[in-house]
Amino acid sequence: MKPNMEYLPGYEELAVKRLPQMEPEQFQQWAALLKQRTGMRLPDNRTSFLATNLGMRMRELGINDYQTYFDFVQKGREGAIEWDRLVHHLTVHETRFLRQESVISLICEEHLPACREQCSSPALNIDVWSVGCSTGEEPYSIAMAIDDHMQQMGCQYYLGITASDISRSALAHGRKGIYSRQQVKNIEPRWLDNYFSVTDDEKFQVNEDLRKRVCFNHLNILDIGAAPIGMMDIIVCQNLLIYFDKEQRIAIANTLAAHLKPGGLLILGVGELLNWKHPELTRFTYANTLAFKRQAHLSDGQHGPDA
Ligand SMILES: C[S@@+](CC[C@H](N)C(=O)[O-])C[C@H]1O[C@@H](n2cnc3c(N)ncnc32)[C@H](O)[C@@H]1O
Repeated sequence: MKPNMEYLPGYEELAVKRLPQMEPEQFQQWAALLKQRTGMRLPDNRTSFLATNLGMRMRELGINDYQTYFDFVQKGREGAIEWDRLVHHLTVHETRFLRQESVISLICEEHLPACREQCSSPALNIDVWSVGCSTGEEPYSIAMAIDDHMQQMGCQYYLGITASDISRSALAHGRKGIYSRQQVKNIEPRWLDNYFSVTDDEKFQVNEDLRKRVCFNHLNILDIGAAPIGMMDIIVCQNLLIYFDKEQRIAIANTLAAHLKPGGLLILGVGELLNWKHPELTRFTYANTLAFKRQAHLSDGQHGPDA
């Protein structure tokens, strides 16, 4: 039988700290703000998820009602900082090293050999963009795979990875590049030896050489049209588009396509964008991937985003 909380000592204090009930209109108001600012859809059955996460921050700030907090996150510099914090709690950051092995083999077994064949200079320049990079496992996996492959091939190369995300906390984690034993369990011992050092508290930190190649940038994907992102050889955007509606997915994919160099490869999450076609991109069929290749030379009248 449940205890009757009204008769327990300290109940009043507990009641003050209890989450306020979230009314459907309040949910709609927050969901609309989230959608407008991040593009994320919050389905109606996520009320308790939203209430729990808002409630956590509200309690820390001593705010007792959703409306006050709603007004607060929209006001001034403090509101903007608070919004950044909140976004981290409301977005999904699940990721892991070598999450999609087929993507790694597509890059190393298919794409890089083709680039090497077409490259006339002694060193290959490789610019990669990991879009929605979370805490860094995806860009570091790509960096390790490319470095390992190019060394084994005995090829000179320059690698620069742009890793962007809307969550500043996730980016800060990525910049440090420190992971637990559990988080690195998918990485083969040779790569662990080559690319990580063990910290005093038995964690694994990505070596400085590799960290220097990955540049973490705060970027809301909805603002990519205005972002100072250059042209890329490889763009990877996985497990992010699923949070957007179809029109936004298409708009984002079109903008990513515009950032691809001739011959560049765009890799999306499998099943994240159905029946999308782009006049300058061709579907590149490779098992367990959703990839597109930009034609090797731009024809007259076709320009990148900088044109
Ligand atoms: C599920 S993680 C995917 C991580 C990695 N790409 C992977 O596949 O393992 C999704 C990431 O997208 C980020 N994200 C969500 N909305 C975003 C937006 N509007 N702009 C940029 N990043 C966003 C989240 O912060 C989160 O880190």
